[in-house]
Amino acid sequence: MSRTTLTQLRKMKANGEKIVCLTAYDASFAHIHEHSGVDIILVGDSLGMVIQGYDSTLPVSVDDMIYHCCAVHRGTEQVFLMVDMPFMSYATPEQALETGARLMREGHAQMVKLEGGAWLKESVQLLTERGIPVCAHLGLTPQSVHQLGGYRVQGRGKSKAEQLKADALALQDAGASLLILECVPGELAKEISEALDIPTIGIGAGVDCDGQVLVLQDMLGITFGRTPSFSKNFLTGQASISDAITTYVKDVKAKTFPTTDHTFS
Ligand code: KIV
Repeated sequence: MSRTTLTQLRKMKANGEKIVCLTAYDASFAHIHEHSGVDIILVGDSLGMVIQGYDSTLPVSVDDMIYHCCAVHRGTEQVFLMVDMPFMSYATPEQALETGARLMREGHAQMVKLEGGAWLKESVQLLTERGIPVCAHLGLTPQSVHQLGGYRVQGRGKSKAEQLKADALALQDAGASLLILECVPGELAKEISEALDIPTIGIGAGVDCDGQVLVLQDMLGITFGRTPSFSKNFLTGQASISDAITTYVKDVKAKTFPTTDHTFS
């Protein structure tokens, strides 16, 4: 059985079918995701917080990502598998290439994700030219939480919105094949999604992105501490975890999640 490909994800955008992405960090959940209709599993460095119990994603290592990516890979056969490059593992293009190669070769990922704007153009170009597909991540980029001054909405105001749009276009031009937009006003995410050829996946970015992603623990209501306002507890009223994930898939595909309650203006 073969895995979902980038070509299929691109077709979904072209056909207006929403792409469903969800994080997973182990084989058991990954298996449930696959059987619930999730299109992309993201082995996110959010694992630093929801699995390892740190207060940010910064302490996560490349070895940690490979360990969890392998587990997710073993639990699945068909789903598209994307993995985060952790903090400071892509500070230069050469380092990005080395980390990307490890995540693909040892972790069995189909795509790597990195956080940041146009400064990453050279790295994205190098990775994609060498056969490593890239997902860019703009808006609230959790690895920069200290630089951003907290987990806050990004891209508000004309100049910040223009900057974000310019970054998105620059990363697409450099070769990125997907773009995650995190915590940006819904209208801005819509404009960017319409301006780009590549699919956008939103988290706290409104219903008009080409797909949605959530952190598994947030959408099951088991995150300790504060759950983000843009997330939703899909386990409420469901008989099982599998039913909760199936409902998430159905709601994203039907465009009934996210609602305006989960969207920033
Ligand atoms: O690490 C992660 O889970 C992520 C998502 C929040 C998009 O980057």
